[in-house]
Amino acid sequence: MHVLQQITQVSITAISLSIFFTSQSTNQIAIAAFPAPLRSKQGMVTSANPLASDAGLQMLKKGGNAVDAAVATTFAISVVEPFSAGIGGGGFLLIHQGKTGKIEALDFRERAPIKASRNMYLDAQGKVRENLSTNGHLAVGTPGTVAGLYEVHRKYGKLPWREVVQPAITLAQDGFILAPKITPRSITAQEYRKKVILANPAARKIFTRNGDYYQPGERLVQRDLAQTLTEISRNPQSFYTGGIAKAISSDMAKNGGIITLQDLKTYKPIWRNPVCGNFRNNRVCSMPPPSSGGVHLLQILNIMSDTNLQPLGWHNPDALHLLVEAMKIAYADRAKFLGDPDFVKVPVERLISPAYAKIRRQQIDMQRAKPSSEVKSADTKLNPESKIQNPKSYESQETSHLNVVDGQRNAVSLTFTINTGFGAGVVAEGTGILLNNEMDDFAIAPGVPNSFGLVGNEANAIAPRKTPLSSMTPTIITENGKLRMVTGTPGGSTIITQVLQVVLNVLEYKMNAGAAVSAPRIHHQWFPDELRVEPLGLDTMTLQELRRRGHNIVEKPFWGNANIILVNPDGFLEGATDTRGEGEPRAF
Ligand code: DON
Repeated sequence: MHVLQQITQVSITAISLSIFFTSQSTNQIAIAAFPAPLRSKQGMVTSANPLASDAGLQMLKKGGNAVDAAVATTFAISVVEPFSAGIGGGGFLLIHQGKTGKIEALDFRERAPIKASRNMYLDAQGKVRENLSTNGHLAVGTPGTVAGLYEVHRKYGKLPWREVVQPAITLAQDGFILAPKITPRSITAQEYRKKVILANPAARKIFTRNGDYYQPGERLVQRDLAQTLTEISRNPQSFYTGGIAKAISSDMAKNGGIITLQDLKTYKPIWRNPVCGNFRNNRVCSMPPPSSGGVHLLQILNIMSDTNLQPLGWHNPDALHLLVEAMKIAYADRAKFLGDPDFVKVPVERLISPAYAKIRRQQIDMQRAKPSSEVKSADTKLNPESKIQNPKSYESQETSHLNVVDGQRNAVSLTFTINTGFGAGVVAEGTGILLNNEMDDFAIAPGVPNSFGLVGNEANAIAPRKTPLSSMTPTIITENGKLRMVTGTPGGSTIITQVLQVVLNVLEYKMNAGAAVSAPRIHHQWFPDELRVEPLGLDTMTLQELRRRGHNIVEKPFWGNANIILVNPDGFLEGATDTRGEGEPRAF
């Protein structure tokens, strides 16, 4: 059960648990108690699963660095959260060098197959062919996880490659006990994908017993995956040119998929410059396009930055109103401008500039929530909103984020995914690899929402080898040139606003790590025009005030699964995982 509590008084004396005082302001009534964060000097791993955090910690204890630990944790997550993220998908990471302070970004996201085409999910009349971009072989983008992990390890890892893959092999071979705690990340929460899994014989065999998912508390063994990981540990190229590549491409050919050996052979991860901006005394760096995450995180922080939020108090109605209006603006710009920068010109500099934020800030009416239909992207000539069809909502909890900080203050912030639960629902026969359905992150037609209700346009249209637009937001923040925060989260379209709130919780509201990732969150993504709030997330008076200003408030079940590592001024690391998930931080 969730531990959030609302109580109606502000005076509580600190007790041994970490209690967060929401604010000194009189209109604040919510006080939340969260598990105490973990503290350590040496090194720390936070991830969505304790077994995966253990894998990373093992590497640190052996003398490995943050990259070794991050790679081991990522492979382990691929085994223990197979429906969520894995080697059949892709992702992004940011890496911080302790010695130099340099921050780089690695893009190992899926690419559209060479045979992909702009209208591949439309029928002759131009209508969307239901579920084709989400279920089955045509939904799959060329996976990048193995290439990305190998690339970062080749460049920065210290321990032998085989050693960092080993914990995942063991978890797949011996199996692991499915967490007894049922959360939205339990396999049993994947009922909505069951039909898709049952339709694929290889997936059905691995993830169900006679058609029923394995239950919490039971052991899940993945022998084919163990074999595949063993092959990868000996020769990572086998995924792209060897036996694994052949198995994937022949499974595709047999089942109407379009990924070929050529797609796999030519896959390349791409080093990119992170997007960075200043917020208060901090330098915030995050993932650039083809993720929209970093751009809009910075854009919203810029819009907020002329308001001194802290004295208003946490979740003060004025602060929330401003936050929500800024979110709408950002997602309107996202739909218009964001896409793969190797294919379209994305005006990154403009979107993250304080001057542009100032113009956008002036468009916000503090007394009235602007209907989304009135919120325009910066280029009003070509607004995608005119074409939006049936904006839809989506509640999905997949994707996985992890952070590592080592003794030298090298850090990795990594988010990866196979997109929605169980990806495309396709396991390439004999490999144990669940393949992604990342093609759905393209705008399959202008204004047609994807699985997360997100709309897009020209900039995010499908093209061969193009990368679908993402919201993943692995983030690293420094203060006076020193590492201060490493964070990220899953949650589709909500990722950007989650990371934004985690960042504000620490930098503006001075929350500790535990409170920062677990405090109630809000979300608006322009379309659908609804302000999402979590159960008991806002008090009644605040809800009333926001409604009075015209916000269409919709309560949704808890979303996201953030984790965070802070480097405190006393030199200690402070880490925590979201109470919404089953993760635990590990340190030594
Ligand atoms: O890249 C993206 O933005 C999505 N494919 C992430 C998917 C995700 O977080 C699923 N969870 N809700």
